Formats: sequence, C-alpha cells, structure tokens
Amino acid sequence: MIQVAVTRTQAIARDVLLIELSAPGGQSLPGAAPGAHVDVHLPSGQIRQYSLTNAQGQVTQSCYQIAVARDANSRGGSEWIHDKLRLGSSLRISEPRNLFPLDVSAHKKVLFIGAGIGITPIYSMVNSIKSSPTDWTLMACARSASRLAFQEELSGLDEQRVHFHFDMDHGGPLDLQTLLSSGPWDALYACGPAGLLDALQDATRDWPAGSVHMERFKAQAQDNSENSSFELVLSSNGQSVHVEPEESPLEALERIGVDHPFACREGLCGTCEVEVVEGLPDHRDNVLDANDRAAGKRFIPCVSRCGGNRLVINL
Ligand code: FES
Repeated sequence: MIQVAVTRTQAIARDVLLIELSAPGGQSLPGAAPGAHVDVHLPSGQIRQYSLTNAQGQVTQSCYQIAVARDANSRGGSEWIHDKLRLGSSLRISEPRNLFPLDVSAHKKVLFIGAGIGITPIYSMVNSIKSSPTDWTLMACARSASRLAFQEELSGLDEQRVHFHFDMDHGGPLDLQTLLSSGPWDALYACGPAGLLDALQDATRDWPAGSVHMERFKAQAQDNSENSSFELVLSSNGQSVHVEPEESPLEALERIGVDHPFACREGLCGTCEVEVVEGLPDHRDNVLDANDRAAGKRFIPCVSRCGGNRLVINL
C-alpha cells in the first residue's frame, strides 16, 4: 500500500477530473507501464480502480495521474472524489497493476479505441508509441466533444493517426463495422462502455488469438441461475469449504475466516487471484485472457466457479 497526497485536481472535460497523486516528501513512486491501474482506497472503505494516464514504462515516476468521470449511477466512489476530494487530501493506493498491457512488438498495424472515460488507459498507450515505428490509429469517442478527456493533447499528437467521433455531432454512435473494415488491423486495444466492448467482441470473434485486447470498467452481466455448489480446498492445510450456489468462492473463504485480499469483487481488478492446484475452474472474470483460461492455472475467486465438484487452490 502507498500513501499519497493529492497534488493537483483539474477539470479536464465535462464531469471528468484529473487528479495527481504524489508521495509525501516528493519521493519517487514505482513506475508503471501503459494500461496499468491503481486501486484507490476511499475513506468509506470502497476501493476503486483507475487507469494511470501517465504510465510510460519508467522504473520510477514522480507522480501518478488518474482521470475520474462522475458516474451518474455512482455507488459513491466517483461522487466522493468529485465532491469531497481536495488538494492536499491523503489517500491510500495500491502499487500499480497491469491487466491491460500493451505489446505491439508482433503487430504492424494497431487500432486503438477509447470511448468516454475509457480513453484513460488508451491515452497512456498512444503516448508511449507515438514515436515508435508502429503503424497505429486511434479512434477517440464520446457523446459530445465536451465530454472527452485529453482531447487537446490527442489533437496535437498526430492528426493523421488520431480521429474523433462525437455521437451528438455525427448523428449517433460510431459505425464499428466501417471502422474495423478500414484496416486491415492486426491488433485492437479498446476501452469504453460495456455496450461498445460487447459489440467489438462480437465483431472481432474471428480475429486471431491474442490480437484483441479490451479493458472493462464494469463486469459483464452473469447468469448465476444454474450455479451449483462445489468443494473448495486450501492446499496449505487441507481445510475445505462448501461453496453454495448463491455465494462466491471468496465469500465462502471469508465465511470460514480466511482473510483474502480483494478490491473490486467483480472480477475486474485481479487483486483476489489465486493459483489452481487441482480441478477445473469455470472462469467468469474479465481479468484472464484466452490463454490463461485454457491453461486453467489461475482463478479469480470473487466471481469464478468450479467446472466440477472440487477445486484445490494454493492458499
Ligand atoms: S477482487 Fe477484483 S478481481 Fe476479484
């Protein structure tokens, strides 16, 4: 855990606040690569994940910057940040974690899509490759120009590569089929609202494995009506717990007094990940990629389940 102070707040778009976090005494902070996020621990006990907008792969950095959109359906997190967080406020954050890493080494033509506040990790990404030989294109979208963070900075990056789509100016949402077929693209990095990412997921279903990378802010809806119970076993001492259909493995662990780390409890942040020792996981998270899922060695107990009757985890 890192203690930081708020050293800058600035409205950078309608309902979007840029917040700079620095270590007390000007110490340096652990560096982070594009796509990384930090967990921000709010005084209410809520934990929220925010992408670092200034992660450039340095070993250390002087501050972290995040951009927080006021969420109309806020459960208190973004509202508190907008209404109560002040210059000089002290916050606890996690070390940066990267579940959305950028690797363009194997790709020739990369498409980035950042929609709404989903522009935040994408902004770090395009900044990090702006002078590389990679052929990239960014489509930055929002409901209106006033709602897009970093619009001015992006406009100044490369007008051949950076494109904007504003629903209110263009008579509706982005035409994904037209954009995708303007390629050929051999990699896609996208972050934005669930509807957009669901549509992209459908449209790129036939793309090669490892070419489509997305980060979600909200978990996809799950059908839990057919959940069955299973036995969860801790490899360290053989202790086991019966996970009921209506509870998550994480909740079952907590029920028997196991103090296991978590942050989002929605299968988004990766904080609760454990290693599988034996058994078949039924992955329901947005953390693991297709290769991890096929390997069956990593498990996200806040949302995932077991494909059989028994799962042994490395705890
Ligand atoms: S607590 Fe965030 S993925 Fe489980």
